Amino acid sequence: MNIMTDAVWKFKVVPKERFDDEAARLAIRQLQRKPASVVGLATGDTTNGMHRTLAEKIVQEKIDVSCVSVCNLDEAAGLPDDHPARGISRLKRMLYDPIALKPEQIVCFRGQPDDLEAECRAFEAALARRGGIDLQFVGIGLNGHIAFCEPGMPFHAGCCAVELNAGQREEMRRKFQYASLDDVPTRAMTMGIKSIMHASRVVLLAKGSHKAGIVRAALTGPVTPELPASVLQLHPRLTVLLDDEAAAGMAESK
Ligand code: GLP
Repeated sequence: MNIMTDAVWKFKVVPKERFDDEAARLAIRQLQRKPASVVGLATGDTTNGMHRTLAEKIVQEKIDVSCVSVCNLDEAAGLPDDHPARGISRLKRMLYDPIALKPEQIVCFRGQPDDLEAECRAFEAALARRGGIDLQFVGIGLNGHIAFCEPGMPFHAGCCAVELNAGQREEMRRKFQYASLDDVPTRAMTMGIKSIMHASRVVLLAKGSHKAGIVRAALTGPVTPELPASVLQLHPRLTVLLDDEAAAGMAESK
């Protein structure tokens, strides 16, 4: 189903059992098309299964990853490099270590830089040296955020440091079983909307019935900074991959 008649983006709905496989397959196709790809990854419940599946496929199918570069979309600040709540720790465990990526293939935000804005500039410079992102995966938050770009962040924002709001911190407390909200980071570094929109291709991933309403609003409603993911409607090469539950609202909009 193409929602925007003049857009060249692809829209795919799969049963939830096939979601991780399809998502991983999108990354594999990119690596087969261009082995020296720069691939941006998002961490979260949506992508955990995809990352494990991708690691398995790369190993089983003997996909050459020796020239690939990877980066992660966002990272909480103030945590030691090996802290389990860091996106990079999870990506290393699920994907980077099983496929034996070398440190020089990984672009990431350090956990405890002295200057978060300088860290963001360094992150952007590292990506620019690699020629920019070929394929960027993004998830979507319940309020329409992508990465740590919350409602209201201007579309022209590049990679930057942000304050985490109460909702995001509560979600982190729950996901990573912090004993107290006081222990949860208050700041993060994130790719901005502009950085995401500069990727040659973007894949929006969503699964679960709790995402159905916001997916529909993001893809069929007005494009507005109040719903950051809505900007993806303007991306010339967008792929949307949903499981049948997350796509439920789209069927209603036909
Ligand atoms: C989080 C992260 C995003 C992630 C999104 C969806 O807050 N900052 O990078 O893609 O929200 O997360 P989940 O997949 O767990 O629903």
